[in-house]
Amino acid sequence: YSLLPYNTFGIDVSASRFLEYASVAELEEYIAQGAVTTPFLHIGGGSNLLFTKDYDGLILHSRIGGIEVTAEDSQTVSLRVGAGVVWDDFVACCVEHGWYGSENLSLIPGEVGASAVQNIGAYGVEVKDLITAVETVNIQGYERVYSVEECEYAYRNSIFKRPENKSVFVTYVRFRLSKEERYTLDYGTIRQELAKYPAPTLPIVRKVIIEIRESKLPDPKVTGNAGSFFMNPIVAKEKLEALQRDYPRIPYYELPDGRVKIPAGWMIDQCGWKGKSLGPAAVHDKQALVLVNRGGAKGSDVIALSDAVRASVRDKFGIDIHPEVNVI
Ligand code: EPU
Repeated sequence: YSLLPYNTFGIDVSASRFLEYASVAELEEYIAQGAVTTPFLHIGGGSNLLFTKDYDGLILHSRIGGIEVTAEDSQTVSLRVGAGVVWDDFVACCVEHGWYGSENLSLIPGEVGASAVQNIGAYGVEVKDLITAVETVNIQGYERVYSVEECEYAYRNSIFKRPENKSVFVTYVRFRLSKEERYTLDYGTIRQELAKYPAPTLPIVRKVIIEIRESKLPDPKVTGNAGSFFMNPIVAKEKLEALQRDYPRIPYYELPDGRVKIPAGWMIDQCGWKGKSLGPAAVHDKQALVLVNRGGAKGSDVIALSDAVRASVRDKFGIDIHPEVNVI
């Protein structure tokens, strides 16, 4: 079963079996029949995966759809959204209805289920800020709703990423958005880009975010990639201060716990990797955090490049960076 259409990196691998379900009942039926065998891998849009070899097991994929309003008052709207809904279709729907909160997450590839596993984030917003609960079914067919607190959200992380929870499948995600006008505009160049318009509106903010993303991030339909290949490392304030002596212009974000997050893309760029390739894999020429498939790359080609980039960053900055994509 070819996985080429199911991974945005465009790696040509296959799986022994593939199973899709369109409802919780259908998933539970597959489980009852014993069709969900190990090893298995539950995928979303395949936009955060790097396959390094054929998958000798079962690939599961949710096609659970639907965006349903479950409650509403004058200030907020509560929504229940199927795990298989394309993330950006959900954002577009929110913007059309005048629901505030998701617009900074416009154009992030992938599906709603994976957004809640991975805590997707961009331009000062993380999806955990919008989620109220996550509905799941596990491999025994047991249903459980996790409150947002129980999800233990952190930077690109949640309870669902733990190895022991690989058999917990997200079926629906519950969100609460605002009906009152409010924006998050303090990240990067958003305000600067908005200055062209008389005032921000939801469609304008969405448009600006899309323009910023399109100017930096390669379109996976054209060039295989999985967005940021690495996470931004979190280091102690002292480490930053030591680096500032050599690199006074080093960008960083302060975290509530006093530590700082340093953009891996900046460090990779400083190492001279931007736009450079190693065989059929390359560092994107407009955003060094993104690795791309120049055509015909195997997972191992991307890993070879990733290892070389990590070694450079370690040598130059004394910081270990780690993949953000799931390497399978
Ligand atoms: N920078 C460079 N050179 C580069 C890339 C970045 O100097 O080649 C500098 C930028 O000038 C800026 C800083 O690094 O000062 C941060 O860059 P940017 O705002 O582009 O964001 P990022 O930290 O590289 C993160 C997320 C992105 C998200 C953006 C915007 C991670 C791993 N990545 O990237 O998420 O879109 O912020 O919020 O946290 C993704 O996860 O796939 C993803 C694209």
